[in-house]
Amino acid sequence: MRKARPFVNGIWLEDNREPMPVIGPYQGETVGVQFKADKNEVAQALEAARLHKKKISNLSPAFRAKVLYRAAVLLEERKEEFAILIAKEVGKALKNTRDEVARSIETLLLSAEEAKRLFGETLPGGASDRGTSSMALTFRIPVGVVAAITPFNAPLNLICHKIGPSFAAGNVTLLKPAPQAPLIATALVELLLEAGMPVQAIHMVLGGKEIGEQIVQDDRVNLVSFTGGVPGGRQISQTAGMKKVLLELGGNAGTIVHQDADVERAAAICAKTGFSNAGQSCISVQRIYVHEQIFLPFVEKLKHFTAALIVGNPEDERTDVGCVVNRQTAERVKQWIDEAVAEGAELIHGGNAVGASIDPAILLKPKKRSKVVCQEVFGPVVSVLPYADLDEAIKDVNDSEFGLQAGIFSNSLEVIRKAARELEVGGVVVNGSSNFRLDHWPYGGLKDSGIGREGPRFAAEEMTEMKMIVLQDLL
Ligand code: SIN
Repeated sequence: MRKARPFVNGIWLEDNREPMPVIGPYQGETVGVQFKADKNEVAQALEAARLHKKKISNLSPAFRAKVLYRAAVLLEERKEEFAILIAKEVGKALKNTRDEVARSIETLLLSAEEAKRLFGETLPGGASDRGTSSMALTFRIPVGVVAAITPFNAPLNLICHKIGPSFAAGNVTLLKPAPQAPLIATALVELLLEAGMPVQAIHMVLGGKEIGEQIVQDDRVNLVSFTGGVPGGRQISQTAGMKKVLLELGGNAGTIVHQDADVERAAAICAKTGFSNAGQSCISVQRIYVHEQIFLPFVEKLKHFTAALIVGNPEDERTDVGCVVNRQTAERVKQWIDEAVAEGAELIHGGNAVGASIDPAILLKPKKRSKVVCQEVFGPVVSVLPYADLDEAIKDVNDSEFGLQAGIFSNSLEVIRKAARELEVGGVVVNGSSNFRLDHWPYGGLKDSGIGREGPRFAAEEMTEMKMIVLQDLL
């Protein structure tokens, strides 16, 4: 039986505490056990992190790059084992988990490269009359201790997106993975150690909100990097004090399909990216605004492509849509679908829930204030809404507390230019849906979708401070 254990100051903690079962959501069976950390152990991890930050900051960039590179090689060798473990632990379909592992390898490689690219600048003083004989050099220095608090929906890659840049930049990382995915986090920490990451550079505690709060409030932490929901993000920004905070929060992403779009292609992409990972992605296509002239043909095609998706056992290679993370989530999503229907939406596909599985649901014309439109569903539900002109569609996409990514399908430069300028989001995908991300690109949102950007280059820079050395009468 797989075990998830806290890793603090070079020791896997287990002793004689009571193990808690880790339940796979699809079959409801025990897939492993986890040993949670208590407050004292969290305090030990915080102290160990503080104690070792100098040593870790002194490791050479070349060494840090090599460790991350070796981790990528080891993960490549074990990719199938990791893919199966994610499918078991969180119910994500094997097709999606294989993608996730491939992306995680890339994230580690990108992070390895960034370890060697934390450059500074030379700033001659002559721009000021008082500075003719001076110059400044800037360097990036590690922040010290990075607390990484990660979600269940991409439980491997989103850890790599935090540990990779953090170690690349010379920090100690204290990881608190999602309580639903401690096994995959443990497997990754074991792999990083095997790749040569010094035990002082990585500490992991397992548990829920209470230990998350302890970590966020502790002054030994210099930066909190959190991916998760808006309430958690808000709480962190209110309690983190003077620490730097990176927040990658939720979304109810909108995609516009304009009248000149290739309807078949747009529908195929929306079906795939609205329901992959059972809709549990912050940029999953949730609201599709379709020009009224192509509304019916688009809906027909969307239904056709959705009906072709295989829903079922996450560990079966043929499955396109696995289950959501637990039964309570499935019940909540089902309730939101029922509410939308009671409020006037038409359910034209799916929506049945059995255990943690939900048939991909397509809702037509829900009310703007229905939860499936204005809140984050994080489940396999898309809403399709007609619009008459582009201004209206842009206004509807922007009528949201979130602003992570949006998509627009059109071949008109004028339409694309307007959408790119006016959509209030961190990223606009042209001729694609909101749900497209490459791991080296900047990823993050406006409004309640967060603060800062991920992507190894951007995160590594966020995880450093600028230091300036002034030289006088030297050069
Ligand atoms: C997320 O849910 O924000 C992660 C999406 C991704 O990396 O594709």
